[in-house]
Amino acid sequence: MNPETIAVHGAHGPDTATGAVAPPIYLSTTFERAADGSLPHGFLYARDANPNRVALERVLAVLEKGAAAAAFASGQAATMAVFQSLAPGDHVVLPASVYYGTKKLMDSVFARWGLTTTSVDMRDAENVAGALRKETRLVWVETPSNPLLAVADIARIATLAHDAGAKCAVDNTWATPVGQNPIALGADVVMHSTTKYLGGHGDVMGGALVVREDDELFQRIRTIQTAGGAIAAPFDCWLVVRGIKTLPHRVRAHSANALAVASFLESHANIEAVHYPGLASHPGHAVAARQMSMFGGMVSVQIRGGREASLGVAARVKLFTRATSLGGPESLVEHRASVEAPGSGTPDNLLRLSIGLEHPDDLIADLEQALG
Ligand SMILES: Cc1ncc(COP(=O)(O)O)c(C=O)c1O
Repeated sequence: MNPETIAVHGAHGPDTATGAVAPPIYLSTTFERAADGSLPHGFLYARDANPNRVALERVLAVLEKGAAAAAFASGQAATMAVFQSLAPGDHVVLPASVYYGTKKLMDSVFARWGLTTTSVDMRDAENVAGALRKETRLVWVETPSNPLLAVADIARIATLAHDAGAKCAVDNTWATPVGQNPIALGADVVMHSTTKYLGGHGDVMGGALVVREDDELFQRIRTIQTAGGAIAAPFDCWLVVRGIKTLPHRVRAHSANALAVASFLESHANIEAVHYPGLASHPGHAVAARQMSMFGGMVSVQIRGGREASLGVAARVKLFTRATSLGGPESLVEHRASVEAPGSGTPDNLLRLSIGLEHPDDLIADLEQALG
């Protein structure tokens, strides 16, 4: 079936007890055993599983063309479970351009846990080959990356990882499952911050992992999750399931708006650089066009005049809201270097734009007046 149909029907049908078309929210933390001690509905205790979480995991697995999924309390909790599945002494290859929080998690938590890392520029997949060691167990990919929208060739990197006996995990948050399917390209694990496009309305935090196979790695991840308790709450799962129903239509609109805004910015005299993989001028455009069906709603832009000039643009916008995060209906702008640590590598004149669902002409008019 096509993503639009999976998005609407993939989580649940009408409620079997009442016929309710929208699913109930199951808040119960525990479930009744039969007289013989068995669990007739398969549920025991809400940290292990809950009907709303099972429904979310079902639709996520199908949308990402995987065998199974696990829904977490946040994107970071999902990433953390992947890192926790590794053992002290294991080596991880990370992209040089990666979500700041992923790098922070690795440096501030998992270095002490005994993981070692090498960061490489994955815009050239062959750089990964040079970083692989006999202890490498994981190659982590993020494409397009946050905030520079660097594009990495998933199929090539997954092959390199597998040849070295490592797994390949892809943070697919920015592309979404309707824009890119890393498992179909060879990846073993897909990670999402469902806080973003999957929830889609800026009102729920969550994360997810989808795996190619329900194998020993997934069982380890599941044990880490259910033993440790980094689970998504029932209402949060319900909200993400609801968000997913409109995901393909929203991502199509976000992508069309983002292309219109990026094309406008590219031609503006006060702009130094525009980073959007849908532009033919983007260095990763050819790879992105091969592995993505839509280029997504995120655009980063470098303003002529440095930090002060870019903060000035952020100060003058009226329709864009100055806020972190992404993937909701409201367009957001963020001076990214301000929320990352010094030395993160994000240019000081970079504004990250989460292009929302407003009319693109209105967004362009707002940027035009702010750019002066
Ligand atoms: C690419 C990417 N990965 C992971 C995360 C972390 O997700 P969460 O904030 O849900 O923990 C974010 C958040 O901005 C992100 O942009």
